Amino acid sequence: MRNEKGLFITFEGGEGTGKSTQLRLLAEVLQKAGIANIATKEPGGTDIGQELRRILVTGDKDKCDAVAEALLYYADRRIHLTNKIWPALENGTWVLSDRFADSTVAYQYYGYNKRISMEMLDDLYKMVVGDFKPDLTIILDIDPQIGLARSMAKSRTMAVKETRHESRGLEFHNNLRAGYLELAAREPQRFAVLNADKSIDELHEDIKKLVSERSKVNLCQK
Ligand code: TMP
Repeated sequence: MRNEKGLFITFEGGEGTGKSTQLRLLAEVLQKAGIANIATKEPGGTDIGQELRRILVTGDKDKCDAVAEALLYYADRRIHLTNKIWPALENGTWVLSDRFADSTVAYQYYGYNKRISMEMLDDLYKMVVGDFKPDLTIILDIDPQIGLARSMAKSRTMAVKETRHESRGLEFHNNLRAGYLELAAREPQRFAVLNADKSIDELHEDIKKLVSERSKVNLCQK
């Protein structure tokens, strides 16, 4: 992992894996260790992105197809990169993002059972992101039945229901989980897969250990 600039760490996984909680806990630990960092997310890491997020994660699941979705997620990503991620990394600030481009491959390609072309997604990546990649991608892995139940329970307490993808059925979610595992197997130096069917504290310990190993910054001191 490179160290001269900030590190870019992404959290990935299906629904209800606890990504946002774990990201926040990691951000706190880094802060305490004196490492400047920002916590962000896709879609919606910027003001314009928040508007795209509303379109993408609420409402009828069939209101647009996978190609349109991929384009909108990439528009959000471009603004996120240029306005927030790249400037922060240049400053030496670490960036922790709840989802990035692997989500598009997992959801729009594997989730939809490969109905859109991987070539198109590769081209979009090159056009929008170029050679840039996360330094570390942590996949929080959980049985979709457990994750979806958690996520639906959480959404009942939310005023705006962000459940457009949750409503796609188990096959979609099983496909995307398998997709993430395939991506991780192909690029083990960037990915780490952690079992997310654990307590918040246990998973946080696993994440601290992993980030310490990969970044050479010891976050596990008591
Ligand atoms: P989340 O904040 O709960 O992760 O919600 C974001 C939703 O958007 C989630 O269902 C995954 C989905 N998504 C995609 O389908 N493709 C993408 O590229 C991204 C970033 C998210």
